Amino acid sequence: MTKTNINWSGFSKRSFDERLPIIERFQLLSPENLKHLTADHLLPIQTANQMTENVLGRFALPFSIAPDFLINGSTYHVPFVTEEPSVVAAASFAAKIIRRSGGFKTYIHNRQMIGQIALYGIDKIDKAKTTILAKTEELLATANQAYPSIVKRGGGARQIRLEQKGYFLIFYLTVDTQEAMGANMVNTMMEALVPDLEALSKGHSLMAILSNYATESLVTAKCQIDSCFLSRDKEKAQQLAKKMELASQLAQVDPYRATTHNKGIFNGIDAVVMATGNDWRAIEAGAHAYAARNGSYQGLSQWRFDQSQQLLFGELTLPMPIASKGGSIGLNPTVAIARDFLNSPDAKTLAQVIVAVGLAQNFAALKALTSSGIQAGHMKLHAKSLALLAGASEHEVAALVKTLLADKPMTLEKATTYLSKLRQSIDNGST
Ligand code: HMG
Repeated sequence: MTKTNINWSGFSKRSFDERLPIIERFQLLSPENLKHLTADHLLPIQTANQMTENVLGRFALPFSIAPDFLINGSTYHVPFVTEEPSVVAAASFAAKIIRRSGGFKTYIHNRQMIGQIALYGIDKIDKAKTTILAKTEELLATANQAYPSIVKRGGGARQIRLEQKGYFLIFYLTVDTQEAMGANMVNTMMEALVPDLEALSKGHSLMAILSNYATESLVTAKCQIDSCFLSRDKEKAQQLAKKMELASQLAQVDPYRATTHNKGIFNGIDAVVMATGNDWRAIEAGAHAYAARNGSYQGLSQWRFDQSQQLLFGELTLPMPIASKGGSIGLNPTVAIARDFLNSPDAKTLAQVIVAVGLAQNFAALKALTSSGIQAGHMKLHAKSLALLAGASEHEVAALVKTLLADKPMTLEKATTYLSKLRQSIDNGST
């Protein structure tokens, strides 16, 4: 039961060595769980303690690989960190089919981050705009002086834009952040610009911050799949391709469907973003805002079947401001393993791999949804999860999965009952 009478005041200021005895003293974890929490696996506890606050241990998730993605002629074995069964299977399945059809073609539209300063309390907005724009070169120089190391690496502040929105005059700055996601860099530049902008506009700054709506970091992935790979039966293959096109149209007109459609895309995207040590909240926020750019929330991908060519064309575009350096990337040793699987890609390459994964994930989900239904493949893997949760050992899993699949709906309770029956029958048979 959760203990409620603990005084947490000052906990944040205690050292790592002081925190664990508190957890132990108040019996907030069993001794066994406390041991697991502090066992040294792939992320050294000292590193974890530098990454966030109030650290007590690490949280493990499965680290998987979805092999053989063919992207712009190169092969990638993509690391996935996800807890959800069937995501890796679906991505691997799609990668295999799309490889046979020539692979993915991807491209980067641009790769710049955007910072914003919201100015308010300005009497003469038009005059403020003109005054600020007349100082464009000086303002870009101020931003660059605030973060000179990015200029040395070939990046830096690039463009200024102003927009009046309601009560605010909003100043936008685009920054080439090179290999970094650039949150610290952009925030430092924006804060350095505040005094000049307040003086030029004769107003006040409400806030100065990076925007996660990364419309200057769009990436597109495309593929074209020969319908013969959808089914051995030509007629069925055509019907399936047409239904997948309809599924894509449904996600354009119904936000309820679009949300699930995009969730499926993010099954893959989040898994790779996490494995590579990137900020998945930033990627999610930017992409969902992009999905609503036309005024209603829509599916991010589009599928079109060309009957004359017997080809199913897929396309996915979304903001992907991914980094290859900075943040926790250099700190977390598991990220180094993930990056090694991908041959240490630069930020632009990694962004393209991730968007291709999103398209693959969407392909597998739509194919399953418009043919056998999602449950057929999913349930097989779900049965495996239930078997493991019930405590089945490696050699018991296959038999338990078979029994569970024959008695739907599957539940953990059933898995536990069938497992003890299985063990009894083995005991009886062996004695
Ligand atoms: P299948 O045709 O039964 O697969 O599909 P298979 O057993 O014939 O295997 C074909 C290949 O798939 C394998 O090749 C693997 O590449 C891969 P092989 O290695 O045999 O040469 N594969 C696996 N890889 C690793 N582990 C496995 C595994 N099984 C197959 N265990 C499959 C089975 C699950 C792939 C298919 O049914 C599928 O793609 N289903 C979709 C599953 C999915 O999208 N899951 C995500 C969770 S559901 C969700 O959250 C999203 C959703 O709501 C989104 C939306 O609505 O749009 C659906």
